[in-house]
Amino acid sequence: MNRFPVSIVKYVGILLFIGILFSSCKEKEQESSIITITGNYKIPNVPKWAENAVFYQIYPQTFYDSNGDGIGDLKGIIQKLDYVKSLGVDAIWINPFFESPFADAGYDISDYYKVAPRYGTNEDAKQLFAEAHKRGLHVLFDFVASYTSMEHPWFKASARQDTNKYTNWYIWTDNVWKNPPAEYASDFIKGYGERNGQYMRNFYYCQPALNYGFALPDTNYKWQLPADHPDILNLKEEMKNVLRFWMDMGADGFRADMAGALTKDANVVGNEQFFNTHVNATKEFWRDIRNLLETEYPDAFMVSEWSYPIDALDSCFHVDFFHWFNGYNDLFQKEDWRILNGFSEGHSFFDIEGKGNITEFLTNYMEQYNATKDKGYICLPLGNHDNARLCNNRSDKDMEIIYAFGFTMPGVPFIYYGNEIGMRQLPTSWPQVEGAYRPRNGARTPMQWSSAKNLGFSTASAEKLYLPVDTAKDAPNVATQEADANSLLNKTRKFIELRHTEPSLANYAEFVPLFAKENTYPFIYARANNNDVVLVMLNPSGNNVEASFEISTDFSSTKVLAGDTLNIEHNGNTVSVSMPGQSYSIVKLIR
Ligand code: GLC
Ligand code: CA
Repeated sequence: MNRFPVSIVKYVGILLFIGILFSSCKEKEQESSIITITGNYKIPNVPKWAENAVFYQIYPQTFYDSNGDGIGDLKGIIQKLDYVKSLGVDAIWINPFFESPFADAGYDISDYYKVAPRYGTNEDAKQLFAEAHKRGLHVLFDFVASYTSMEHPWFKASARQDTNKYTNWYIWTDNVWKNPPAEYASDFIKGYGERNGQYMRNFYYCQPALNYGFALPDTNYKWQLPADHPDILNLKEEMKNVLRFWMDMGADGFRADMAGALTKDANVVGNEQFFNTHVNATKEFWRDIRNLLETEYPDAFMVSEWSYPIDALDSCFHVDFFHWFNGYNDLFQKEDWRILNGFSEGHSFFDIEGKGNITEFLTNYMEQYNATKDKGYICLPLGNHDNARLCNNRSDKDMEIIYAFGFTMPGVPFIYYGNEIGMRQLPTSWPQVEGAYRPRNGARTPMQWSSAKNLGFSTASAEKLYLPVDTAKDAPNVATQEADANSLLNKTRKFIELRHTEPSLANYAEFVPLFAKENTYPFIYARANNNDVVLVMLNPSGNNVEASFEISTDFSSTKVLAGDTLNIEHNGNTVSVSMPGQSYSIVKLIR
């Protein structure tokens, strides 16, 4: 028996029909909605020199070896500053060059105030800053504030049985036999030193967390100190002195390592600390630092490795690296064999196979961008020392399309050394030195300067090198690419130049996505600066694709600034474009 009277079934049916009709109208409406490009923007409050800056990241151990011991050094960087300048970049970020036992490649600092002998001396650092400034380059150092090496004298003192100045500078439980609360279990190490307790690590076991307190100390655990405990305030003052020391030496600012992971929050532990801590006390610390800079070093720039721009920029950083999230991987390294960390599968958008998806990235990005664009910048790094090389089974053409994206997105571009010539990800079977487990080892190999011995990196014998150099016969190198106007190196230079000369490609200019659909190519967006409008059209896939969208801006023709000359038609507000496989175009709208 039918439980529902026929009339109700009919009624529901009609409603459903209207619903479908309505939703399909809505879809049509969305499809045909005209996207407004205003050209409006606000330049965030950053030092003038950084408003439109492009950065180059230097990994000191593998950039250039000036004394033939097999390891890069600060004098080596000085010798290559003219090259760096020739790229057209404005500034450099150098990974840690401080005294360290190098269990995490120098991120495990044992003396904040001293250059590691393998890199040179404090005098060399001073000279490096001065030589960079002579060339109009600015330099950021790596500020590792969230932990030290276990070899640091502060930690050694804190591990003693007696109570001393450093007892509370690290996080120790008060009974080695009693485990910390379950949520922290994997973060504590027991059995080190004379002290009766377990210490908290921030990353590797040898990187004990400095104590910035607990957001909500659990009163059952007396060792959880509040963030304003006097000993913690002392530590914070000391970290400010570290900062002043390098600023006085000539640095122009810093990149803050694991910036979000200072004050602890029981709900956010382990790697989650990179991007998931929203703790106010951590933000307060960085706001304090920003105040310090503004009063003492008003030209200084601060960049965070937080990967949650909404929090980082709220903490007053000028820029946040936004790469520890799935959307970044969706762009460049979604495949398990590409990211090599054992936690991913799928397809990158920037891949010739054309199986990627841009929307996961864009949704995350827009959430952060819309909330932060007036305050500071987002950086989508073009590679770094913690990820596989972008050039991981990619051709120069693939790389060019990636750079057409990377150098036309808003925010501050950072390009990792060697990526400008397309240095490749090297085998995971290579030595995993100094905490460089895959994919890091394959991305930290020596810079390839020429086809000479050790590809021009060092005069040492091959077995003395920090990591082997690329052994491929066709390994890219600077010298060869200098001589070729069409090389990736020279194309990278052109992109950087374009970013500096084209008003609508400035770091702060407006960004408007125009065509970005799930599992679909191409990806098209506008950048605009008042009346200047540029369209960026990207088809990394090997397939011919078409797109059409509607924009508010009226134009008569287009001028190609870089890339391919495409068949672009426009009819009223509708713009249609067809793109061959592996093509891109950056075009200016002519009114
Ligand atoms: C940052 C560094 C990385 C290091 C980690 C812990 O993520 O970029 O290289 O291993 O912090 O120090
Ligand atoms: Ca050296």
